[in-house]
Amino acid sequence: MSMHDYLKILAVDDDPGVLNVFKTYFEHSDQYSIVTASDGPSALDVFSKEQPDFLFTDLAMPGMDGIALSKRILEMDNTIPIVVMTAYPSMESTIMALQTGVSDFIVKPFKIRDVDFIIEKVMAQKEIMVENLLLKSQHARKKELEKINMELAATVEEMEKLNFILRKVDWKKNSGELFDQLTNISCEISGGHLCYFQLLDDSTGSLYPLAHHAVTEELDNEDVPDFLDALAKQSLDKAGPAIWGKDPASGLITPLHAAVAIPFNIKDKPLGAITVCKTGPGNGFSEQDLHYLSFLGKRAALVVENTALYENLCQNLFSTLYAFVEAIEARDPYTKQHSARVADISCIIGEHLGCSARELDLLDFSGKLHDIGKIGVRDKILLKEAQLDEEEFRIIKTHPEIGANIVGHMGLLKEETQVILHHHERWDGEGYPNKVGGEDIPFLSRIMTVADAFDALTSDRAYRKKVDDAAACEIVKKNAGAQFDPVVAEAFLDLAAQGKVTSSL
Ligand SMILES: [Fe+2]
Repeated sequence: MSMHDYLKILAVDDDPGVLNVFKTYFEHSDQYSIVTASDGPSALDVFSKEQPDFLFTDLAMPGMDGIALSKRILEMDNTIPIVVMTAYPSMESTIMALQTGVSDFIVKPFKIRDVDFIIEKVMAQKEIMVENLLLKSQHARKKELEKINMELAATVEEMEKLNFILRKVDWKKNSGELFDQLTNISCEISGGHLCYFQLLDDSTGSLYPLAHHAVTEELDNEDVPDFLDALAKQSLDKAGPAIWGKDPASGLITPLHAAVAIPFNIKDKPLGAITVCKTGPGNGFSEQDLHYLSFLGKRAALVVENTALYENLCQNLFSTLYAFVEAIEARDPYTKQHSARVADISCIIGEHLGCSARELDLLDFSGKLHDIGKIGVRDKILLKEAQLDEEEFRIIKTHPEIGANIVGHMGLLKEETQVILHHHERWDGEGYPNKVGGEDIPFLSRIMTVADAFDALTSDRAYRKKVDDAAACEIVKKNAGAQFDPVVAEAFLDLAAQGKVTSSL
């Protein structure tokens, strides 16, 4: 049983006797077919037409010899096995033939059965060669795939890190929070252990620490060491990253071994610098670390710009809205400065109850604007000296909603809108506009309700006289748990007893 598939053999010889032997032997084989040619040029023709799988060629032929023919044929198909037949093998012709790419020799005269044998041998060699080639190309392909996979993994890692930065460094209502987060994320993305954000004082060139982050308590130090301060300045001078590595000869005592400072620019103008440090010898910053840090810096700069725009926008919006409030209060001499006082009293109560700086800001803002919805109530009702009838009272009760609509109009002040909307709700759920009660009323609205009631009670109104502080406090006390949140009422009464809240604020 032969090891190879069906083969078409081309035999080339100027001796018709040799060709006849080939023909006779292979003609009736079911494994081989045979085509022949009597010289080089006609062999090339037959080769193109018949596309044989195996070539036997005589060496010495007139015109084109066996080596020249082999060369031409290998140019067309470099995988075809070629066996050269010769009666007088010389060392020289053998070397030449092998250099050409001939697979083997057979010496004339040969027994035709030797041809069978040589075909088997050459085909087996070819198979090994093909396998080797395949293995080689598979190996190369595998290497290529590994390389592509590694590149892909690096790209995926990069995309993940950049996405992480985009997600984490997002819009903030105040820029302070952003800088805290910036130092935190700087460490996270670069494997850093300590990070400072310093703000540049343009007039003196000094840097002031604004935020810092340390991964361990031992490293936690809000003062920037001199050498890091110098590094940050260096980065600002060269408008690019400045890198520091600990020099053992310097005698510097610090757990830090590497640091990099990157300028933080807003619209190409330096605002400050981010400095990230690593502890542990041999722990430096890679190109990739610098790439991520500079991306983070650019992203944060954009967020700072947007935050500044927002803060400016809010300030403008507030000024416009407060001008409306002042216009309303100017129409009614009794309510002059009412909103400003409500804001002040609310903040005093809020502070006493442990509100954050942000909540106190909210109280101040909402307190000043809480009655802005009265802009939608006609003077005839607003300034009426007699008791309001049912319809008039219904109209006046629309002012929290109108106010919330006006303030919430731009979609920027969601929390403020809620505080204003609910400033006439009652703890027992009997207030307006939504009849929500208890802790469903925003906490800051519950504070404002007490402040609003106290200021109203201690001010003259068109339809009634004011009461004194003590009487107002009695009313607040009596209504704690009904109109007012008992906790807020108690805080208010505490403050009033200490003289910290009075009608003459
Ligand atoms: Fe009100």
